[in-house]
Amino acid sequence: MKRNLIRETIKKAGKGVVLQGWVDSIRDHGKITFIDLRDRTGLVQCVGSDLPKVTSESVVEIVGEVVKRPEKLVNKNIPTGEIEISIEKLKIISKAGEIPLPLDTEGLDIDEEVRNKYRYLDLRRPRMAGNMRVRSQVTQFIRNYLHNEEFVEIETPILTKTTPEGARDFLVPSRLQQGKFYALPQSPQQYKQLLMVAGIEKYFQFARVFRDEDPRADRAYGEFTQLDVELSFVTQEDILDLSEKMFTSLVKEIFPEKKISEAPWPRISHKDAIEKYGSDKPDLRKDKNDKDELAFAWVLDFPLFTEQSKQDYFHGSGTSKWAPSHHMFTSPHPDDLALLDEDPSRVRGLQHDLVLNGLEVGGGSIRIHDPKIQSKIFDLIGFSKKQISQFDHMLEAFSYGVPPHGGIAPGLDRFLMAVLGEPSVREVMAFPTSSSGQTSVLNAPSEASDGQLKELGISVKK
Ligand code: AMO
Repeated sequence: MKRNLIRETIKKAGKGVVLQGWVDSIRDHGKITFIDLRDRTGLVQCVGSDLPKVTSESVVEIVGEVVKRPEKLVNKNIPTGEIEISIEKLKIISKAGEIPLPLDTEGLDIDEEVRNKYRYLDLRRPRMAGNMRVRSQVTQFIRNYLHNEEFVEIETPILTKTTPEGARDFLVPSRLQQGKFYALPQSPQQYKQLLMVAGIEKYFQFARVFRDEDPRADRAYGEFTQLDVELSFVTQEDILDLSEKMFTSLVKEIFPEKKISEAPWPRISHKDAIEKYGSDKPDLRKDKNDKDELAFAWVLDFPLFTEQSKQDYFHGSGTSKWAPSHHMFTSPHPDDLALLDEDPSRVRGLQHDLVLNGLEVGGGSIRIHDPKIQSKIFDLIGFSKKQISQFDHMLEAFSYGVPPHGGIAPGLDRFLMAVLGEPSVREVMAFPTSSSGQTSVLNAPSEASDGQLKELGISVKK
């Protein structure tokens, strides 16, 4: 017998159906029992008598007839509310034991470790299931949009070398070259620029990136996803324009109930943002209680350098006052080149941050494509010869014909968090790492076996 989906039942009054799904709830009224059955397409009320004993969240098959409900029993809250299923046969496919966390609430007050341990159950709650579907619609929309604009989707390596985004790296020991390590990418920054040298001109990918930094509500620990974009022969204006058009049509199509507060999106200099709002990611919503308001804004004209300190994991030369405020490949403003020697603190960078409802949902820049300027920046941030040699491949690549280029990387998780009004990026991730660094369900990190360590030439200090 072929399975019917719950959403089909609405049109099948008087007909027989075979439904398979989860028992959402059970109401036992003595002789007759009501079961709300759930599948990925919805919920339907099923009614029967003398049924085998089922538990909530069990997986069952219900064979029955679709019956129109009398007018006064119609449930306007669900799409199948005009009908119900008169159960002929109920088969328990897989019985569920007692569910360790409530699933009929939003779940936000449940302990994070519990939600993560049972993430496969937590994802059954409608809010989370909805978030997963919306996330998929958003990535699908962006893929189509960028393909229509002639972008090429390219995957870049995960096992790679340290990348300069300013957080701690995750290291992976090499077995073939004992004592050496790969680093997981903090972003595909160097590869996306190398793809421009390669002549791709328009690149994007949904890039999984890895950063060992303290988690916050808007900052995942461990890994998150960027919509990584890079273009050749463009100005900053082109990048802002592409992003603005794409996200505007995305909101229109996928979140039609949301209103963008101001278009074109306001552009604020970093200096004005700090002076006027005391923040480089100001929340420009007109009414912060309105859950459907989206206040996008661009923050521009960042200083190219910040004082070194917080960035010293990577740029830890300790020999310079300066660290890049975005990253070391960001181009100085052409009008400020002379200031590189005179007063680096006054050099503006061609950086652009995309802000949404007070969150930084994207960052990017026009890149340096002149090896001389790149070397100058390395000097100014106090790189030693050895540190510079880590980037020799970039300087060499740029000696074989490099187009002017730039890009942006909106954080997918953070964008979804902002649009959906979720309190944390973890609410839009399927299997997030907890704030203490444990992965969902599988509970990594865990110890390696003695054999594995031996092969890697590693001994762990007890
Ligand atoms: P940046 O480091 O600014 O730029 O990162 C881009 C965007 O990624 C999001 N983001 C995060 N989201 C969730 N959890 C985190 N821990 C986290 N950290 C950052 C933010 C941020 O704006 N390579 C450059 C981009 C470029 O220059 O093209 C980069 O990675 O939304």
